[in-house]
Amino acid sequence: MDEKIWNLSGKVAIITGGARGLGYDMACALASAGCNLILTSRFKNSLEEPVQHLKTKYKVEVMGLELDHRHFNQVSEMAEKSLAFMGRIDILINNAGGGSGTGESDFFLRSPEEMAEMVSNNLLGAMYCCREIGKIMSKQNSGKIINIASIAGMVGRDRSMYRKNKKTEQTIDYAAAKAGIIGMTRDLAAYLAPYDICVNSISPGGFYSKNLPDGFVADYNKATALGRMGEYGRDIKGIILFLSSPASDYITGQNLVVDGGFTIWK
Ligand SMILES: NC(=O)c1ccc[n+]([C@@H]2O[C@H](COP(=O)([O-])OP(=O)(O)OC[C@H]3O[C@@H](n4cnc5c(N)ncnc54)[C@H](O)[C@@H]3O)[C@@H](O)[C@H]2O)c1
Repeated sequence: MDEKIWNLSGKVAIITGGARGLGYDMACALASAGCNLILTSRFKNSLEEPVQHLKTKYKVEVMGLELDHRHFNQVSEMAEKSLAFMGRIDILINNAGGGSGTGESDFFLRSPEEMAEMVSNNLLGAMYCCREIGKIMSKQNSGKIINIASIAGMVGRDRSMYRKNKKTEQTIDYAAAKAGIIGMTRDLAAYLAPYDICVNSISPGGFYSKNLPDGFVADYNKATALGRMGEYGRDIKGIILFLSSPASDYITGQNLVVDGGFTIWK
């Protein structure tokens, strides 16, 4: 096999929300292929440990940047600093976001402010990053943008699984925002294709965390073809390496589903 298709040495990637969770797993996957990294987080002090660990373990350059991607001026500043880091940006992973949010999860009780906040955090922030980093990549005539969506943007959710297990429901605004990510990805891929920039999204299914009620995990496992929830440290790494590397150079505008088969049956 031509191993160069997986090699990322000398490349530079930005991972928003890369200090923990799936974003940190992505950082480890890219660093293990030799990629230099820029990790962003809203909280500067949460960057110190992961940045140091990645540098020491993988011997790559890593920079941490404070960013709340809901604010366009902060995104522009992040883009400038990222370009100054090593003089180029090869990969952007729009990972920051999340469905837990604040307030009521029931649609009829949820406030307009909570809805707007969710859309801003899960769609607009990523759109701003695509604009500012896409512009830099267009001047390079190369790049890969990977937007983290969710199966919430693809299928409706059986609320009984949540209510029975007294688990906060996934909100409709989260589904709307993630569906927006999938739509944005497709059209942005068309817009950026003339610059040889590939744009794809990943839709993960639910990942296991200790905070989930046992009954909910059991029901979720049963509803998943492979019989289990996603595992941190394991299930997101392969796909992110694939979409970041030359191995995927002829793939653009696609939404790749990483859900153990949750969406293949009812
Ligand atoms: N974990 C899952 O089950 C799952 C399933 C499907 C999709 N996803 C998506 O994967 C991505 C990562 O999720 P995770 O489970 O690792 O969540 P997480 O909460 O552990 O990590 C999310 C990261 O985004 C950052 N972030 C949140 N709001 C931000 C903002 N306004 N500006 C900048 N950074 C911000 C957080 O600080 C954190 O670092 C999210 O986009 C989430 O919607 C997760």
